[in-house]
Amino acid sequence: IHDHELVPHKGFKLINGTHDPDDVDQIYNLETRDSDVFVVTYPKSGTIWMQQILLLLEAKGDLTAISKLSKYSNAELVPWIEVYGHRQMFITAPSPRMRVSHLPFQFMPSALSQKKGKVIYVARNPKDVLVSYFYFHKVANMLETPTDFDDFFDKFMRGDVFGSSWFEHIKTWYSHKDDINMLFITYEEMIQDLHSAVERIALFLGKELTDEQLADVVKHSTFNNMKNIPQANYERVPGELLSHHQGRFMRKGTIGDWKSHFTVAQNEMFDKVFHGEMADIPLFFIWD
Ligand code: PPS
Repeated sequence: IHDHELVPHKGFKLINGTHDPDDVDQIYNLETRDSDVFVVTYPKSGTIWMQQILLLLEAKGDLTAISKLSKYSNAELVPWIEVYGHRQMFITAPSPRMRVSHLPFQFMPSALSQKKGKVIYVARNPKDVLVSYFYFHKVANMLETPTDFDDFFDKFMRGDVFGSSWFEHIKTWYSHKDDINMLFITYEEMIQDLHSAVERIALFLGKELTDEQLADVVKHSTFNNMKNIPQANYERVPGELLSHHQGRFMRKGTIGDWKSHFTVAQNEMFDKVFHGEMADIPLFFIWD
């Protein structure tokens, strides 16, 4: 097994070398605190965007304060809970513990169902997720580079990627939204009105910021500003993890890029699967 190979584990695919199945299994038993915040996403749906927003809310919009805390990237301050070694760090970390995760609901701490701790689920229209993920596979050294877009399209539709099926992921979380403290938000609403989105997030987290501080949070988390902040744009992540010459983590940050990638046939196939899988879920995405 090579580093970038996927390891099927209880119906979910993990990345060999990044995740350890036994360690991931123990996440379920973690004790949570009321002050814990988990940002949950299917990959490429706004994870690093939300890392930046959470840190800024905590720092009341003061960007310099955050920059002093991390050398390489925001992931040092808001890490992925499922990456090997991070679960252990979480146990003893001081509050507030802010984490991101790509795991489906059934792997996450069961204590969340006692409404101890909060979850922000960020969803993005899956056609743009697919395109963003395709490019990310070229950059990320832990993921196998696809032969071409068509090859990746088929893999994504089969759920043969880290994160497994986009449809399963959103359904496991959406169906439990009332069992836990959860804010459900979409990438598209953040693009369309970042200020309102940040206000919703602040309210959900019980953060009281002045109008000026909120405006600073918004300012430092727009795509154009974030892409020039080294800790936020991931350019300092070591080259063995990300091949920076292959592309940027902060690639385009738009809605509707799928239109310049999907063929008519791929789009029809996608729509058919989407309508079948999402028939019982009242979710509407902005596609362009
Ligand atoms: S990962 O690897 O799962 O953690 O990736 P993730 O951070 O979830 O998703 C990366 C995509 O989010 C875009 N992004 C943003 N869009 C708009 N505004 C801001 N501030 C922002 N920050 C990150 C990033 O560009 C990736 O999307 P694409 O479509 O590839 O540009």
